[in-house]
Amino acid sequence: MNLILLGPPGAGKGTQAKRLEERRGLVQLSTGDMLRAERASGTALGKKVQAIMDSGQLVSDEIMVDLIAARIDRLPKGQGFILDGFPRTQRQAEALDAMLAKKGLRLDYIIEMKVDESALVNRLAGRFSCTNCGASYHDVHHRPKHEDVCDVCGSRDFVRRPDDRPETVKARLKTYRELTAPILPYYRAKGVLRTVDGMAPIDRVAAEIESVLERPGAASNG
Ligand code: AP5
Repeated sequence: MNLILLGPPGAGKGTQAKRLEERRGLVQLSTGDMLRAERASGTALGKKVQAIMDSGQLVSDEIMVDLIAARIDRLPKGQGFILDGFPRTQRQAEALDAMLAKKGLRLDYIIEMKVDESALVNRLAGRFSCTNCGASYHDVHHRPKHEDVCDVCGSRDFVRRPDDRPETVKARLKTYRELTAPILPYYRAKGVLRTVDGMAPIDRVAAEIESVLERPGAASNG
């Protein structure tokens, strides 16, 4: 099963992708995480994208399409995946369809996580993640069960993202409105878009996603 989680910064895509990895054995393909890994390793690509990410803008479509294509190519045959943070523009959506068709793959579900923008600055300001496994937490809504210990891997190292500062979050939301939200009609017109309430508590969102996945999916390229 292959699916896309679509929604603005802070909608909960990463949180739900991790849950889906655990429940369904799918692999999360987060383009944001891939770029942050490039930055952490100090690669040429990492250096190139640093200022773009920190200003809340999008990295070029060419770079992103190549990055995700290479990552999908490395998956074991038949391994299902969750796209988190990709596609983010109409060109990326179209390139994805073409790329998957060429590889004989398809998207089974495209799930929009609908949220009130006004809640997102607060969500992102309170976010921190496990440095080791990437599990995402929140100062108020989702604290680790044991103070300062990651629920998933037991690590005690956590990190906050530089682009979660309120000014940058506002720029990211603007970018989402202008460049990413316009791809929703593209998927809606294909009849493959499903919407869940991303404002519900995390467990309820997870249950709603499960109920979507229990209904028949659709092939976006078929
Ligand atoms: P990326 O890393 O993809 O960031 P994003 O899409 O802005 O999404 P986030 O990771 O911030 O939010 P999320 O929806 O995953 O929320 P989360 O689950 O963590 O991209 C970063 C940058 O990389 C971009 O700005 C761009 O520059 C570049 N980039 C990446 N992909 C690109 C592409 N394809 N093209 C071009 N450029 C690209 O949750 C947030 C917080 O809320 C957490 O603390 C969580 O615990 C909490 N929370 C989650 N769900 C709930 C809930 N239901 N109720 C209460 N709290 C909740």
